[in-house]
Amino acid sequence: MSDKKIEIIEVGPRDGFQNVPDFIPTEYKLKVIDGIIRAGIKSVQITSFVSPKAIPQMKDAKEIAFACLDRYPDSNLFALVPNMYGAKLAVECGIKEIYYVISVSETHNFNNVRKSHDESFMELSEIQKLYPYLKINLDVATAFGCHFEGDIPIEKTMAFLKRAHDIGISSFNLCDTVGLAHPMMVERLVDASLSEFRECEFQIHIHDTRNMGIINSYKALERGITKIQTSIGGLGGCPFAPGASGNTSTEDFVYMLNRMGFNTGIDVNVLIEVALDLKEHISGNYSGHQVLIDKDHR
Ligand code: COA
Ligand code: ZN
Repeated sequence: MSDKKIEIIEVGPRDGFQNVPDFIPTEYKLKVIDGIIRAGIKSVQITSFVSPKAIPQMKDAKEIAFACLDRYPDSNLFALVPNMYGAKLAVECGIKEIYYVISVSETHNFNNVRKSHDESFMELSEIQKLYPYLKINLDVATAFGCHFEGDIPIEKTMAFLKRAHDIGISSFNLCDTVGLAHPMMVERLVDASLSEFRECEFQIHIHDTRNMGIINSYKALERGITKIQTSIGGLGGCPFAPGASGNTSTEDFVYMLNRMGFNTGIDVNVLIEVALDLKEHISGNYSGHQVLIDKDHR
């Protein structure tokens, strides 16, 4: 049994659902979130406060936030926001922790949130000033490249992190938005980030485009990141990032950790049942395997 404390951060209700074109009934979304929490996951990105014109699927962000905050007062519930407008809505609903997103690739940033780097960073600063008690994590999108700008040199990502750190950000989520990372890239970026920003928190967010989801997420863990974002069923994708596919699947990743002796406290079979039900109801990019576990291998 390893003593390493690992935090699995479930992002399916945001990253997974945002890419599903047909509206998923709010009650069904809540059922999925309930299953995730029942399985033992404590940290969930439940929705995003984004323009309903950009992502109609997220138009029920307020209802989701109110219901979840009411039902699960002991869980860590987060939302993604792309701008001040979204931050205000999130705070009004009682959300205490947000993920603000800026892409290292400025072209992707324009496509995703319609802002230059200067505009995105300025708005981030304003959110911090307005809400000093709100915990703000920065989604460092396209940290491993994108299809608009190709490879992102590590120096560029480090300069991006420094820029955010200089305005007071100390929690970063390194995102492989379209699934271009490989284990050596993960190792290089994680090592550089952890050694340069020693007092900061880091998370990893991997897409499984080429079947490297588990190995990339595990590489980040091995190099010292203990907060790992995964998605139920492996459902995921970004409508503004051509080529983005599902994420590292929560059930497969947790299965691996449990089998390796990490104490995740998460029941994989409950996750698998939720994922199987999800697959039956919602079509999308699923990268998970959903193989139920017999009692000898839990
Ligand atoms: N939540 C809800 N509505 C929002 C909003 C938010 N966070 N931000 C803006 N809006 C509304 C505005 O009120 C406006 O509504 P109206 O047309 O009825 O007046 C409309 O959206 C356009 O607002 P504007 O500020 O001009 O935004 P934009 O068209 O330049 O789009 C974003 C910018 C950031 C709002 C939009 O690109 C977006 O939501 N992107 C999110 C992308 C995403 O979720 N990607 C995947 C996750 S990384
Ligand atoms: Zn993603």
